[in-house]
Amino acid sequence: MRFTLNGSSTDVRAHPMKRLLDVLREDCGLTGTKEGCGEGECGACTVLLDGQAVNACLVPFGQVRGRSVRTIEGLRGRHPLQQAFVTDGGTQCGICTPGMIMAAAALPENATLEDVRTGLAGNICRCTGYEGIYRAIRRAEGSRPSALGSRHAPEARTPATRVSRRSDGRDGGSAASRKPQTAGRRVPK
Ligand code: FES
Ligand code: FES
Repeated sequence: MRFTLNGSSTDVRAHPMKRLLDVLREDCGLTGTKEGCGEGECGACTVLLDGQAVNACLVPFGQVRGRSVRTIEGLRGRHPLQQAFVTDGGTQCGICTPGMIMAAAALPENATLEDVRTGLAGNICRCTGYEGIYRAIRRAEGSRPSALGSRHAPEARTPATRVSRRSDGRDGGSAASRKPQTAGRRVPK
């Protein structure tokens, strides 16, 4: 199945119901995307699908045909968000960090602190208390036009939302059904 992965046209043979998370890690060798809960609750597996933040553990591979996927590897370790997470204490154990950064990359330009809190409400961190994460994202904000625009992810500018449909269909939504993943979850202060 052909799709665009981190800007390159890619062809991967995998079952269409295999989780995108597993295709990325097992078939593409991109282990930067992490698995936490495996059921759409923690955000550790966040990637960008056509510029929107989605939980890769909930996306059947068949849904990415002809679409664009961007993972943490696609930021090449040089993205201002990555730098800011290091300098501002946005990361400790690091398990949540790739997902946090990809969710932050999907925030709109000039995001307010409230936008950041809402956009990352689907990403859980057990270590930092969130303040360092928010501080890092806000610091990187000034670099966003050049960073997220031409060099890295021109599509990575839409508000952070999550695909709400489970691969087993239990959530009941269509493939295009999306909602902000804040339902039933506190917005960290
Ligand atoms: Fe927790 Fe995907 S692994 S949301
Ligand atoms: Fe450890 Fe976030 S840094 S879970």
